[in-house]
Amino acid sequence: SRSIRLAVIPGDGIGPEVVAEGLKVLDAVSGDLTFEQTSYDLGAARWHRTGETLPDSVLAELREQEVILLGAVGDPSVPSGTLERGLLLRTRFELDHYVNLRPVKLFPGVSTPLAGVTPDDIDMVVVREGTEGPYTGVGGVLRKGTPHEVATQESVNTAYGVERVIRYAFEVAASRPRKKLTLVHKDNVLTFAGDLYQRTLKRVAEEYPQVTTDYCHVDAATMFFVSQPRRYDVIVTDNLFGDIITDIGAAIAGGIGLAASGNVNPDRTAPSMFEPVHGSAPDIAGQGKADPTATILSVAMLLDHVGEGEAARRVERAVSDDLAERAALGARSTSQIGDAIAKRVSG
Ligand code: NAD
Ligand code: IPM
Ligand code: MN
Repeated sequence: SRSIRLAVIPGDGIGPEVVAEGLKVLDAVSGDLTFEQTSYDLGAARWHRTGETLPDSVLAELREQEVILLGAVGDPSVPSGTLERGLLLRTRFELDHYVNLRPVKLFPGVSTPLAGVTPDDIDMVVVREGTEGPYTGVGGVLRKGTPHEVATQESVNTAYGVERVIRYAFEVAASRPRKKLTLVHKDNVLTFAGDLYQRTLKRVAEEYPQVTTDYCHVDAATMFFVSQPRRYDVIVTDNLFGDIITDIGAAIAGGIGLAASGNVNPDRTAPSMFEPVHGSAPDIAGQGKADPTATILSVAMLLDHVGEGEAARRVERAVSDDLAERAALGARSTSQIGDAIAKRVSG
């Protein structure tokens, strides 16, 4: 029997509610596998109490874990960006989560707002860069609060960072039936960063003759997600563009409550972190209304990452079976959905 050190960061709002269901399913699937869990009370409450977002000592403990499960962070009572930057982005940057892996997949029986679309039409993986771009925090403000205020927020893109995420995306594309990789950027305006991505794509493409490559401006991509999602198989894109298009991806694939993600450190120099794409949803927090499916599918990605592919498939199948029957079941609470999926996993 194998034991895996798992850090759990429930976070804010619906974070703890959906994480509880994720852990329920993890427990149900584990069998011989045990997860040695450590829970960290990071988030809004801790910030109010101590002013801390992510203390160095906690970051050092996180580094010693094998994998991390996160709910969501952010709360209306905390200045915007404090926890998002200080906790979530700091973790992604410090643990070198340079791949933000976000599948966009329509499961059978799930309703999509798009007309005439079937699961065959929406099955893509967005490989979002996770440690660079406009997220680095480079920039600043001059003459704040005056009519002459200047706010700059730079996009930082390195040859090293761009190449490693593009290489990862080629590997993902090569492993899939369609073997198609689309770069999504805005190289007609962001000429420096876009050109770096384009040249890198072309160079790495020579090593993957079996993969077809394509390019799409991000504005057009938002349109095609809605009008022709079938265009896409694997997408590689900048940190901010990837953030935006994966919320659209969630919407077309059945809603934000179903969208899973992994912040992956493919070199395994630090633990990877799995989390739903959605946030803390303060508008529905504490009401048992949150859909835990995104977190449960993130748990499946987590299992895959730690080498438990068979357990991952079982969780995915349980989710898929639950989704197929959902329309007939009417409204269920967060824990009812978690219970139903956990039952399918163990039964
Ligand atoms: P959000 O994803 O929290 O909510 C957007 C909408 O989707 C809301 O109406 C919400 O009720 C709904 N929703 C989200 N998750 C759901 C679920 N599991 N089931 C059912 N409905 C769900 O995004 P937001 O409102 O833009 O942000 C709220 C807070 O969360 C902010 O502080 C933001 O910074 C933070 N945030 C954190 C993360 C993260 O931790 N990874 C991601 C996005 C936003
Ligand atoms: C996400 C979120 C985060 C992001 C925020 C909360 C920092 O929107 O995980 O998609 O922009 O990456
Ligand atoms: Mn987002």
